[in-house]
Amino acid sequence: MAAQFRFAPARGQRHNGTMTHRHLLTGHVLHFAGDPFAGPWQDAVQIDTDGAVLIADGRIVATGAAARVTGDDITHHDHSGRLICPGFIDAHAHYPQTAIIASWGKRLIDWLNTYTFPEEMRLADPAYARKTADTYLDLVLDHGTTSVASYCTIHPHSVTALFEAAETRGMAIVAGKTCMDRNAPDGLRDTAQSAYDDSKALLDHWHGTGRARYAITPRFSPTSTPDQLAALGALWSERPDALMQTHLSEQIDEIDWVRGLFPQARDYLDTYEQFGLLGARGLYGHAIHLTPREIDRLRDTGGALVHCPTSNTFIGSGLFDLMGLAGGGIPVGLATDTGGGSSFSMLRTMAAAYEIAQLRGVAVHAAQLLWLATAGSARALHRQDHIGTLAPGMDADICVLDLASTPAIAQRVDQARTIWDAVFPTLMMGDDRAVADVWVAGRQRMRP
Ligand code: GUN
Ligand code: ZN
Repeated sequence: MAAQFRFAPARGQRHNGTMTHRHLLTGHVLHFAGDPFAGPWQDAVQIDTDGAVLIADGRIVATGAAARVTGDDITHHDHSGRLICPGFIDAHAHYPQTAIIASWGKRLIDWLNTYTFPEEMRLADPAYARKTADTYLDLVLDHGTTSVASYCTIHPHSVTALFEAAETRGMAIVAGKTCMDRNAPDGLRDTAQSAYDDSKALLDHWHGTGRARYAITPRFSPTSTPDQLAALGALWSERPDALMQTHLSEQIDEIDWVRGLFPQARDYLDTYEQFGLLGARGLYGHAIHLTPREIDRLRDTGGALVHCPTSNTFIGSGLFDLMGLAGGGIPVGLATDTGGGSSFSMLRTMAAAYEIAQLRGVAVHAAQLLWLATAGSARALHRQDHIGTLAPGMDADICVLDLASTPAIAQRVDQARTIWDAVFPTLMMGDDRAVADVWVAGRQRMRP
């Protein structure tokens, strides 16, 4: 398939003149030229079936024909028949919920009280927080996810644990201390002042340190007093370069509760807007039951929505309007919502996004699903200049997919007539067994 590629000098020359080792990956290569929800997906997404990606010094230095260089300083990784993608980006997760993923039988508020809060309490122990962070990041890497935006717990050391674990692995992550000063159990509440002070100290320390970025994180309006929301809004106005992440309109009962807690607010989004927590660097998870005013305000301000489809079916929340919202000019990212979501895999997440859209009468194309899990999430996190695409100059975060990873998928792929027909079964039926190779900032992750 012919494709237009941008080239950068395919040199492994360091500034001091010494040669660095380079890696050449060949196979089917996924390329993005734009947003496949803004126009025909064919104009925005291509697969170069005879593709190549050259990596040096942690970055992609060339793709396509320009990448096909040879030399003593180059290791060739032959991924013939496989799909070389940007590493997956999970735009909304709760790493502290790793151990309670797939807990039975509850809807949102009961699920929080029964499973989530008791588990988050356990991260009061810094050693347990570190262990959970390590387990979580190893799991996501096994699933081909190279970046996440994660909530932590109210404990500042839970943020340190995750950023340090990510630093060890070279991963670009977004994270923040979860703030709650009401409607949460003893031991899991902070105050408006301590939420401000702790968030500010963590933001000052971590935001922009290496690949780390900070997100101010009020959990959701039911667990923050107006004073706390105002304090965090003030912090965001002092540090508008930071991100802000929270939950929005996930379940009907939750929305009714918010209405009772904030009688003056026009709607759920207004409980954030009133306190300076609506903006372009805002990430609003779920956003299933939105009013027309909320949609207009999100479009006007540029805030991003994060679609969490396995969570929305698992906790029984509802059917996100992917086509209406992403097609209507609102930035949308894709996420597992671990542990409300039922899988660490962005492949399972793409399958659930497809199924939810089908229930709304729309068939999302594989190209659109892959874009959401990579470039779309990168744009939502404002990291699109560094991650989410395989273009020269981008960080070399890469996930290589085996398109015949199980007998069931392999026999289906035997029938495929086009490359997209060969890719789609892996998106629908694949899991960590499909992840053949993972690179983080140009370093190959050795699978155990
Ligand atoms: N709303 C507030 N907190 C949470 C959480 O931890 N998970 C989900 N799915 N929704 C929430
Ligand atoms: Zn969540």
